[in-house]
Amino acid sequence: MDIAQQIKSQLDIVRVISDYVPRLRRFGNRYSCLCPFHNEKTPSFSVYADHQFYKCFGCDARGDVFNFVMSIENITFWEALKKLAEQNGLPLPKQSQVSDEKTRARGALREMHEIAVEHFRGNLAGPNGARARDYLTGRGVAPPSIESFQLGLADSSGRALLRLLEQRGFRQEQLAESGLFGRRDDGTLYDRFRNRLMFPIYDESGKPIAFGGRALDPGENAKYVNSSETEIYKKSNVLYNLNRAKQTAAKIDRIVMVEGYMDVIGATQAGVAEVVAICGTALTVEQIRAMKRHSQNLHLNLDADSAGNKAAERSVKLLLDENVRVRVVELEGGLDPDEYCKEHGAETYRERIAKAKPYFYWLADRARGKFDLRDPQGRNDIFQFLLPAIQALRDKIERVSVANDLASYLGIESGLVLEHFRKMAADKSERASAPPKVNSKRPADRILLLSLLAAEEGRDELIQALRGVSGWNQSPAAGIYRTIVSMHDSGSAIAFHSLHERLEPGDQNLLASLVLDSEGGATTVEDGMACIEAMRREERESAARDLKGKIKVAEREGKLEEAFELMRQLAQMSETPVRG
Ligand code: GTP
Ligand code: MN
Repeated sequence: MDIAQQIKSQLDIVRVISDYVPRLRRFGNRYSCLCPFHNEKTPSFSVYADHQFYKCFGCDARGDVFNFVMSIENITFWEALKKLAEQNGLPLPKQSQVSDEKTRARGALREMHEIAVEHFRGNLAGPNGARARDYLTGRGVAPPSIESFQLGLADSSGRALLRLLEQRGFRQEQLAESGLFGRRDDGTLYDRFRNRLMFPIYDESGKPIAFGGRALDPGENAKYVNSSETEIYKKSNVLYNLNRAKQTAAKIDRIVMVEGYMDVIGATQAGVAEVVAICGTALTVEQIRAMKRHSQNLHLNLDADSAGNKAAERSVKLLLDENVRVRVVELEGGLDPDEYCKEHGAETYRERIAKAKPYFYWLADRARGKFDLRDPQGRNDIFQFLLPAIQALRDKIERVSVANDLASYLGIESGLVLEHFRKMAADKSERASAPPKVNSKRPADRILLLSLLAAEEGRDELIQALRGVSGWNQSPAAGIYRTIVSMHDSGSAIAFHSLHERLEPGDQNLLASLVLDSEGGATTVEDGMACIEAMRREERESAARDLKGKIKVAEREGKLEEAFELMRQLAQMSETPVRG
């Protein structure tokens, strides 16, 4: 067994996946949930404990435990292997440390970031960190927060981190690709972060992959500077603090989204741990999906001005598109969450979050402020204002129901305007399409395949018997049988995933639909033999029908000798015992 197989055999795919998708529901040996790889309302994502395989019947994501971790973390095969081994305390033999180049490069990037975090923290705690520590104290950041967010300080030398990483043996091209340095015209590097308060940015599993640096001098022209994008840091994939927020978010089924680093720290100190920040980027589908795995209930707590602006509108549209339930947190006085907590206290802030209005009601309130409800023209204007947001909903029934809700929320019970509004909400071309249906299936194929996959012991016997019949050549699953036989002949281990990997896409789907859907109990060698028996009987019956037909023709044409010979064959056939 190679190292990957060895690691895999010690893992349970259900457990690994449930770390990422906390809401797996169990149906026998199958587990199901909303697919983490595409947007849907009813679960078509399944994890099969028996086959250690996952498959989404909506977007066709599928594979084994490694494929899952690679896709969801966006990492290479070797990284997934290493990660799973580490997380589960499984030893990796020395020679398996050799890996592909990409993985090594990413490993170096991660190492540089670990070193940089420690370096910056040392600066903040050291003698030159006094001013920055005072700044943090002044802004109400308590020592435990400095510790848990691993805040640090970049000095003003412009080369301290560069020297340190050079000493640790990193090459110039590795440094140049770390996102931590700038390059002068003469090609030499310098520290990107100078005299800044440093916020490490973590990936979802809590490893540092980048930094945000806040200016300490008010004269600095950029308030914040970020690492440039690297092989391990894609701005649009990361949400600040998701690595820490996700546990609480899953537990209380709520995520609060704020603008920046300081807001995250302020909110966390106020007891709102389920908080993430977008950090000045436009919200992306990748970020929404990462978040959605932990909770579908999002409380937007963005700066008061920006909730109405174009970027926020786009974000809301994306969120609704992804079926996220959005509420809007309103803080009076135009304060950001961090300032609000300081001014009004943790208790009040938590109350504001608890009282956040569903997005459409919040929007209706804004409309009410703009237009006059008592005037027919005003009512029309209100609906025109609300319509684009409602039309952003994918589902027609939901659009109509939201339209009705809003009408009654606004106190508009009837009339032409309401009718018009309902109609406009309903009319919108539907883009949803049903997932493709799978090919026709024969129960015998299902049972035989299950027994071939399950019966380690009796597989030899089954394959032997399978060779003795030819009926399966006409089966839609013929390609699958052929592959099993050839795998068996070449001595490869036969398991769902290894078989699946070798099939053509059409056969992959057929295999999945035959084998994965079954909820029944264990399938034995005997069950499989019975299917082969049935194939044999069918073959025999069809040969007999064939002979009888020929006999009739021969008799009709007066070829008695030929008819006699055929009858002899037919008699012989029925004498042969069924089990050969
Ligand atoms: P404080 O001003 O220290 O309270 O920080 P803040 O987080 O409240 O800042 P602000 O509300 O101005 O911005 C929100 C987030 O946008 C910040 O946390 C940053 O992530 C990002 N941001 C703000 N200004 C800049 C900038 O000049 N450059 C970059 N790259 N990002 C910025
Ligand atoms: Mn702020």
